[in-house]
Amino acid sequence: MGSKMKLALAVLCFASLSVSVARAGDYFWDDFYPNFGDWMLLYPGDETDSGKIVNLCMDNSTGSGFRSKYPYLFGRLGMKIKLPAGDSSGVVSSFYMASRYEKWSELDFEFLGNWTHEPVVLQTNVFSEGIGQREQRITLWFDPSEDYHFYGILWNQKLILFLVDDTVIRVFHRSTDLGIPYLDYQPMYMYSSIWAGEDWATCGGTRKTDWSMAPFTASYTDFETNGCVVHPDYPDLSPCYQNVTTSYVYGNNAVSQLSEKQVQDLKTVQYNYLIYDYCTDVERNPTPPAECAINWPQYFSG
Ligand SMILES: *[C@@H]1O[C@H](CO)[C@@H](O)[C@H](O)[C@H]1NC(C)=O
Ligand SMILES: *[C@@H]1O[C@H](CO)[C@@H](O)[C@H](O)[C@H]1NC(C)=O
Ligand SMILES: *[C@@H]1O[C@H](CO)[C@@H](O)[C@H](O)[C@H]1NC(C)=O
Repeated sequence: MGSKMKLALAVLCFASLSVSVARAGDYFWDDFYPNFGDWMLLYPGDETDSGKIVNLCMDNSTGSGFRSKYPYLFGRLGMKIKLPAGDSSGVVSSFYMASRYEKWSELDFEFLGNWTHEPVVLQTNVFSEGIGQREQRITLWFDPSEDYHFYGILWNQKLILFLVDDTVIRVFHRSTDLGIPYLDYQPMYMYSSIWAGEDWATCGGTRKTDWSMAPFTASYTDFETNGCVVHPDYPDLSPCYQNVTTSYVYGNNAVSQLSEKQVQDLKTVQYNYLIYDYCTDVERNPTPPAECAINWPQYFSG
């Protein structure tokens, strides 16, 4: 290979690391690798489609998990997940985004397993500068162990949407004017895991895991990494703030307001599926945290 060619390739590779828009449905190992319990990761499928699905298993010795190769700043990031079937009390399956600085950013989807036919609870949380305690819990309108559903975030300079399929279940608006740090300067990695949470997860920890049902398996597929990739060693964030012509997801032209349908989604979730909200937990928060007033529709749609 001539040196000009090499140079051209190097430039290409670097450019694609700085701002790359990956396709949905990539192979697992294009964008991810196991980060714990790697002997408990399974890749069902034959030679041609092995890697389209990854199963995370847990037994009484360990859970397992994976992580994205690179961190992202903004994007539409998520994957389809099918939760463990049957009695999954105390089993926590997750997809989350997290940065690696001391005062970190984090966005969580945690699925709290339950007895067979009893509702799995989805807990979400937002950490900015290391401070979380913004838990919301909902039940879902389908059985998440029966089939794959998309769980992901749309994250840009103005807002963060938590998505379940095409439904917005939560929004976190930029509210730096209220003194709340926004998640706009720390790139975050994507993580997924299955782990033991029998001390707290199901019915407040009173329902323990039935280990005779192990291994528990959460299955992940259709990885969506449509985001601004940041090289961990050369964290030039500026491309992520600029307008990216092919996408309204992030950049100068990013969506900053919810559509009418999305506002309606939030109302439906709030009235029919919300079972815990830190905004209304008066024991923990005698006055609701400031951002609550801009993140629920009754406040922002009049
Ligand atoms: C874990 O499960 C295996 C298989 O069911 C069992 O033989 C073993 O004793 C268990 N270990 C612990 C520490 O419970
Ligand atoms: C598990 O099922 C019980 C009974 O239906 C329900 O009260 C609880 O909220 C469910 N989820 C969790 C995480 O405890
Ligand atoms: C980027 O945004 C600027 C200012 O909003 C605008 O003038 C310019 O036309 C945009 N460029 C593209 C390629 O969208």
